[in-house]
Amino acid sequence: MGQVVTIDGPAGAGKSTVARKLAERLGWHFLDTGAMYRAVTLAAIRAGIDLGDEPSRARLVRAVSVELTPDSVRLDGVDVSAAIRSIEVTRATGTLADSPSVRALLREWQRAFARDRNVVTEGRDQGTVVFPDAFRKFFLTASDEQRALRRLEDYRTRGQTVAGDLNAVLREIQDRDARDTARAIAPMRPADDAIVIDSTGLGVEEVVEVLLEAIQKAGAAVPTEAPT
Ligand code: DC
Repeated sequence: MGQVVTIDGPAGAGKSTVARKLAERLGWHFLDTGAMYRAVTLAAIRAGIDLGDEPSRARLVRAVSVELTPDSVRLDGVDVSAAIRSIEVTRATGTLADSPSVRALLREWQRAFARDRNVVTEGRDQGTVVFPDAFRKFFLTASDEQRALRRLEDYRTRGQTVAGDLNAVLREIQDRDARDTARAIAPMRPADDAIVIDSTGLGVEEVVEVLLEAIQKAGAAVPTEAPT
């Protein structure tokens, strides 16, 4: 197993952007576990299965292949990077993320990804369940308002029309947080040994610097310049 840094936290806290930048700075690989959950959800929607039916979703997830490359997410070999960010997939992913068989298989995919390389991984359960022995663990939060603003900005950048206003997005992420936190298996929570960082009012670079400092303190070699 390579070295692993985990970043968990709620929707819209900036985990993906921060994790990707941190991985670049360290020269490590970036693992977006939410993208795995989204890809299997897209597969389930396309297959027309009942998303809440455990035997159906267990069969489906065993039959698909999801590959994360540095700049794309592939479902059965086809680039689905844009399709997995649709509002429909975003809403439906919570249902598959509640599934014990889906979580068990994705946990294995995530561990396999880190088997022979150094990884910065982000999700909800990376420090608590998937990589309990991670080298350094972080839990990234931000105020509800800031997270809703970031999510709205994400949707707009992708040209997606959002029904409702900032308040609608706020309610949507609060619902997702409540669901992720209340989940019977692998609920979202900071690992006991995680450093909790509130990114409200901080820029991406500032957060990355805080993380790099903590990683350096834990003993990893941190390059002074971003690798080219
Ligand atoms: O981080 P995201 O918005 O791409 O996550 C998509 C969904 O997957 C979200 O509903 C939470 C869930 N998820 C999870 O349950 N466990 C993870 N490790 C990552 C994501």
